[in-house]
Amino acid sequence: MKRGLVCLTLVLAANVWAIDISMPPTKSAATANVERGRKLLISRQETGCVLCHKIPGMKEGGDMGPSLSALSQRMSADQIRQRIADWRAVNPQTFMPAYFSSKGLHNVAKPQMGKTVLTEQGLEDIVAYLLDATKGP
Ligand code: HEC
Repeated sequence: MKRGLVCLTLVLAANVWAIDISMPPTKSAATANVERGRKLLISRQETGCVLCHKIPGMKEGGDMGPSLSALSQRMSADQIRQRIADWRAVNPQTFMPAYFSSKGLHNVAKPQMGKTVLTEQGLEDIVAYLLDATKGP
């Protein structure tokens, strides 16, 4: 009985930790630009975000991932940043690509090895757009 309680507490604590996992702003946050973020989000070539997500302010959008509407009402900027940078920290089996991490990726083409999909500035530009576009009425 006591053991069960300890296990339950550990499971709950682990879940709270997983939900709260977040990435603080990088130094490029100070120069984040909403318009650059919009261009990156909509670019199938550079990010492919619209392949899987419906995004406020954009006509195109797929539904392999959740809609990003009202995002800023559901999570903080730091949580959004973490989800784009590397969602594997929350869900190791995720279908969402890690856009700001090169760790643990296999069979990456040689010229891309060790590189991240987004630059630090690109990541911050996207976070800025998503916050701006989903801040509500
Ligand atoms: C191949 C499909 C795919 C692509 C491409 C993709 N995502 Fe995702 N995304 C997902 C999935 C699936 C989830 C749900 C994560 C999970 O459950 O593992 C998700 C979750 C998210 C979340 C959290 C949403 C929520 O409501 O919990 C954000 C924010 C996000 N993605 C932003 C982006 C951005 C920005 C890009 C482009 C830089 C992008 N995604 C590209 C599939 C994708």
